[in-house]
Amino acid sequence: MDEQQVAAFYDVVGNTYDQSLYFLACEAPYRAEIAQLSAGRRFCRLVDLGCGTGKQTVMLSPLADEVVAVDISASSLARAEARCKRAEIQNIRFLQENIVSLPLEPGSVDGIFSYGDVISHVHDAYRQVFREGARILAPGGFMAFEIDGKWELDMLLHNPEERARARAAGTVGHLRVWRDIPCKTFTDRELCRDLAEAGLRMASVRGVNIFHCVLPESVLMGLPRDVGAFWRAASTFLQGVDAAVARLPWFYRLASTRLVVAVKD
Ligand SMILES: C[S@@+](CC[C@H](N)C(=O)[O-])C[C@H]1O[C@@H](n2cnc3c(N)ncnc32)[C@H](O)[C@@H]1O
Repeated sequence: MDEQQVAAFYDVVGNTYDQSLYFLACEAPYRAEIAQLSAGRRFCRLVDLGCGTGKQTVMLSPLADEVVAVDISASSLARAEARCKRAEIQNIRFLQENIVSLPLEPGSVDGIFSYGDVISHVHDAYRQVFREGARILAPGGFMAFEIDGKWELDMLLHNPEERARARAAGTVGHLRVWRDIPCKTFTDRELCRDLAEAGLRMASVRGVNIFHCVLPESVLMGLPRDVGAFWRAASTFLQGVDAAVARLPWFYRLASTRLVVAVKD
């Protein structure tokens, strides 16, 4: 089963993936969006869907009375718990669950965050994840999540096989295979439709890792201290370019991933 494959993968890769330049480049956009969505607000309950090692869980903790951190990988959850313990955070409820079905009451959540490849991993049941999100959100609540973009620049430049599969999929996204794990990609039109069917309205979208993604794979997946000063400087420069164009349609469509905010009206 795919979700067991995903859980086993994250059980093994543990802490290492989230320290790479690729994932570090996501942190500023995550922080900016969390700050924007929480400006002047105090939440009763937030959910961190696919919390992994808890990087966003600790950011969300001060914003709510309770944060429910959900992940299918036992070892990722253990790391998230350890991270929260080190930070002396006590308002987190950890759940080892598949995000397609959550043990939370309808309308009991103010906001859902799901950053990193979480929903794209659930390539055969992502609509159910949107429906489940809409079910647990209170009216006016939001779901802020990340998904893979279909026409990412790196694929267009370097991957003719995947390009052919993307073209064959027509107006919807294809499956991108990342380290043997299939990830669903999306077009805007399909995402808007899927969200609307679930009872959610797409409110905003921005790209992450647009030009940054053209760095060599070994650099992107490397640790900053290992890649050397030149590549660290190139990464910083390209992240700046990405931030400047992140909301422009012709550019965000080329991004490796997109941050989407959907609202339950
Ligand atoms: C790339 S990590 C992102 C973790 C974290 N949000 C971050 O940005 O560091 C993806 C996480 O989603 C979890 N995940 C994938 N599919 C899942 C599912 N069906 N149910 C629950 N968690 C899932 C994985 O176990 C993994 O920890």
